[in-house]
Amino acid sequence: MSATKKLFVKTYGCQMNVYDSQRMQDVLAPLGYQPVDDAAGADMVILNTCHIREKAAEKVFSDLGRIRKHKKAKEANGTDKMIVAVAGCVAQAEGAELMRREPMVDMVFGPQTYHRLPEMVARANRAIGRDRIIDTDFPAEEKFDHLPQQVSRQGYSAFLAIQEGCDKFCTFCVVPYTRGAEYSRPGMDVVNEARQLVGKGTREITLLGQNVNAYHGEASNGGEWTLGRLLRELSEIDGLDRIRYTTSHPRDVDGDLIAAHRDLPKLMPFLHLPIQAGSDRVLQAMNRKHDGASYREIVAKLKDACPDLALSSDFIVGFPGESDKDFEDTMQMVRDITFIQAFSFKYSPRPGTPASAMELQVPEPVKTERIMRLQALLAEQQLEFNRNCLGREMDVLLERYGKLEGQLVGKSPYMQPVHVSGLPESSLGQIVRLKITEALPNSLGGELVDAPVQNRDSERKIA
Ligand code: SAH
Ligand code: SF4
Ligand code: F3S
Repeated sequence: MSATKKLFVKTYGCQMNVYDSQRMQDVLAPLGYQPVDDAAGADMVILNTCHIREKAAEKVFSDLGRIRKHKKAKEANGTDKMIVAVAGCVAQAEGAELMRREPMVDMVFGPQTYHRLPEMVARANRAIGRDRIIDTDFPAEEKFDHLPQQVSRQGYSAFLAIQEGCDKFCTFCVVPYTRGAEYSRPGMDVVNEARQLVGKGTREITLLGQNVNAYHGEASNGGEWTLGRLLRELSEIDGLDRIRYTTSHPRDVDGDLIAAHRDLPKLMPFLHLPIQAGSDRVLQAMNRKHDGASYREIVAKLKDACPDLALSSDFIVGFPGESDKDFEDTMQMVRDITFIQAFSFKYSPRPGTPASAMELQVPEPVKTERIMRLQALLAEQQLEFNRNCLGREMDVLLERYGKLEGQLVGKSPYMQPVHVSGLPESSLGQIVRLKITEALPNSLGGELVDAPVQNRDSERKIA
């Protein structure tokens, strides 16, 4: 192994970027790069960026300003180097522009080429002359085949990417352009990665994909596995106690997936199913490929299969042409379906997407007024769900220390953070049954009901 070098990675955007950042660290570890949590003095800085909304993309440029100072300070003596890399979706969308605007950026690469990091780093580190590198290909070779087969140890709860890219082309969205066409990893690769994670102490896995339920990976016998089928396989892994998946598209919820929610106790009864809007006119202009009625129908089927199921969603307000009536349809949809958690955004026009060129862009103050109303309703529903948990017993996977002395924090099946006091530190990584005694807008508090449950192997700890 080469001498240790300091690697600072900052991650923006979605869980897929969190996973990618982790894998970049796996790729760079054999070159001697060890993660640090400060850019000052680092040998390499990677900003793993998000292009989804204007604000997210702008943040990168302001952060680069700060990094420039660190780079100057480090390189002041003329011998040290700091490689500054911009990765992820901004890199993919605006790589050339970035290189032009920011001369101190040494390297730009998109989400599909980070398996090539060792070559890129070697070129950037050349003693004489320094190459600036841009790699925003959608390469023919599969990234996942070239990533290290070993994944590093993660938390009790870990992400596992099974699908990437999107062919849906919602008219507001940059993802099909930044992540490319849909690709599913072979089923057994996923199962092996899950086994490795579990072997290193992980108890909960969230399967990731931009459109995760479009998953159609190669089966062990050469056929194809749907997401529902893959979930069944993963369910067989001993020591894996909880499974989730995100983000799903309503259009791709099939019978297999619904049956998985009926049959698999390890599959958590919480589903993030973005709807975006409640008006059929708007959904059509968004090219969402589902309408309000089909969304309601899917939710009804899912709840039929799994009566405990609760939903979260994504919303966009102020899509071009959205009228007051359209917005009221969204509000009505929320009242009818009820969501226990949600993300809502003001529509942000993105370069190159069809919606950005549409007429009737909604004025900013109207978007603001609408999002405030929507968020108030969603917050009310979230609080009501949390309040309804009072007195209930819930299994909580304890993951970290809380703010207060002696407090531990974990996650309920519904992703609510739950804090509990008075348990020994050795309870971290265990699933305990708590009686809920406190309900706040964004979290719960509980007390131990019983001795720890479901701990098939209490020795499996993450240091
Ligand atoms: N793959 C996910 C979406 C990822 S983007 C999916 O299909 O659900 C996450 C969320 O960002 C989207 O669901 C949408 O609500 C929001 N979003 C995407 N593009 C946006 C835009 N141009 N303006 C505002 N919000 C946007
Ligand atoms: Fe974007 Fe639509 Fe694809 Fe989701 S389904 S990533 S919103 S284009
Ligand atoms: Fe952002 Fe790219 Fe994820 S645009 S939301 S980081 S797929």
